[in-house]
This record gives sequence, C-alpha cells and structure tokens, in this order.
Amino acid sequence: MSIKRKGRLFGVFVLLTLSLKWTPFDQPTLPADFLLIAHRGASAYAPEHTLPSYQLAYDLEADYIEIDLQQTQDDVLVAFHDETIERTTNGTGAVSDYTYEELKALDAGSWFNEAFPEQKQFQEEGIVRLEDIVDEFGKEVKYYIETKQPFTDGQLEGQLVQLLEEYGLLENVAVTRQVILQSFSEESLLTLHGLDPDIPLIHLYHFKKEPAELSADEFDRLASYASGIGVNQSALTRAFGDQAAEWELDLHVYTINTYSEAIDAYKKGADGVFTDNLLEFIDPLDNEL
Ligand code: G3P
Ligand code: CA
Repeated sequence: MSIKRKGRLFGVFVLLTLSLKWTPFDQPTLPADFLLIAHRGASAYAPEHTLPSYQLAYDLEADYIEIDLQQTQDDVLVAFHDETIERTTNGTGAVSDYTYEELKALDAGSWFNEAFPEQKQFQEEGIVRLEDIVDEFGKEVKYYIETKQPFTDGQLEGQLVQLLEEYGLLENVAVTRQVILQSFSEESLLTLHGLDPDIPLIHLYHFKKEPAELSADEFDRLASYASGIGVNQSALTRAFGDQAAEWELDLHVYTINTYSEAIDAYKKGADGVFTDNLLEFIDPLDNEL
C-alpha cells in the first residue's frame, strides 16, 4: 500500500471533501510500510469508537483500527476511551457502573454533531462491544486494541484473548500481526504475554517530563515481553528512536494529525502513527474522479 494512499471509496471523498488537505509532492514521503493506525476509528470524521468511525477507517485503508477497551458492570468488553461516559454520551457516571444493555441505550453520537457541525452528522449511534466490531470486520481489518481497565485481576485480558481466539484472529499472529495489543499497564501486558506470548504487545508511555527517556534496564525489561513502544509525540526525540531501534522495538507515536508531523516522527525513528485524520495521508490524485 502506498502513501499517500488511495482511498477505498470515492464516496468517502465526496463526503469529506471539506476536510481534505493535500501535501505537495515535493515534500518527503513516508515509506509504504509506515503504519497508519486509525485512532478510535476515523475519529476526525465520525464519533469515536462507533461503527461508522471504524467503517470510515476501513474505507480509508488504515493499517489498523485502534480500539480502547473497557469492561461493563456485567463484564462485557466495550469500545470506549474514558472511564466515565459524560464526554461522549448523554449519560453520567462510570462505564463500569452500567450493564451493556444500559450503555447500549445511550446516545454516543450527538456530542460529535454538536462539536463538529461542519462534519457529516450521525444519528442513533450507540456504544458498541468489541465483539460487534470483530463481527463486522473479521479479518478484513487489523486490530490495535488497548486495555484501559487493567484493574480487573486479569479478567479483561482473559476475555479479550478468548474472544480474539474465537474469531480466529490469533492464528499465526506473530507473523500476520492481525492483532496488536497495547497498554500503559505493565501488569496488563505481562498478563497478556502469559496468555499468549505470540501476540505483539506495545507498551504505551506518556512522558510528562520530556524528552522521552528509559534506562537500559527498562529497555531490557520491556523487550522481554513487548515488541514495541508507544510514545506521546511531544516527547519523541531522535535519541529515543535510536534506542528503540537498538532494542529492535517498534516505535509508534500518538496522536499525529498532519502529514508533516508524521514525517518528523519518521525521521526520529517512528514506524507508525496513531491518527484521527486519515485524510491527511491520502493522495487525491490517486482517486478516480
Ligand atoms: O493508544 C495510543 C493512544 O491512543 C493512547 O492515548 O488516551 O488516546 O488512549 P489515548
Ligand atoms: Ca488508545
């Protein structure tokens, strides 16, 4: 797949023309294997974590769709970022205080319509289960899933791996990389590694004190279970990228919403970026008009 890439559906362009930006050809380009990870789906154009957001990410040929994972009161795995539901639904309180049936009844789309009135508007979008997403896309997409609630004594991780196995997404996963799992929690990553050591794992860091820095011992330790590191964009340096390469770790950077920022991350050693804004990475001239 080439970058800038060809969108799967011209209709997507008709839908999103107003958002389109295009990087001139004389700028440096990203290599074809540079990963574009659709952060919460194509979340610049549709309410995050909803099926339309993931459908758009698929249409725009993201390499991975990113899903934050939480567990409901009745132990259902749902795609949801925040611990509480105020920001993106018409409800209040913690995700873990509600059953899935209760969450499903909430409106998870209107906030987007109000925040982004210039974008396509979405009606009756609800919170979805991880199962709904893998049921919809199967092996048509690759999944980059974050455990957000690692305080469930391994229950969330166990359920997650079981579900992925049931859908055949872990067959030969070390080679296919059909699924990548990520977490800020070492405990969660170690649990996942214990459940299936073949699953590629990304240890996420948010370096508040910049620049990003880890000791040799810390690199040794994380390289014993993880295949890569996820790091906040503002903390990334070339020195850190060189260290990640020395330990043969993938380096993915969040959250990058312009092509030039992705180029900058690439020059510092990144292998991929999380982005809300997939249209930044598509060449309109590749699309049939
Ligand atoms: O998973 C990478 C990035 O998404 C981490 O930040 O807060 O958007 O989950 P957050
Ligand atoms: Ca995330």
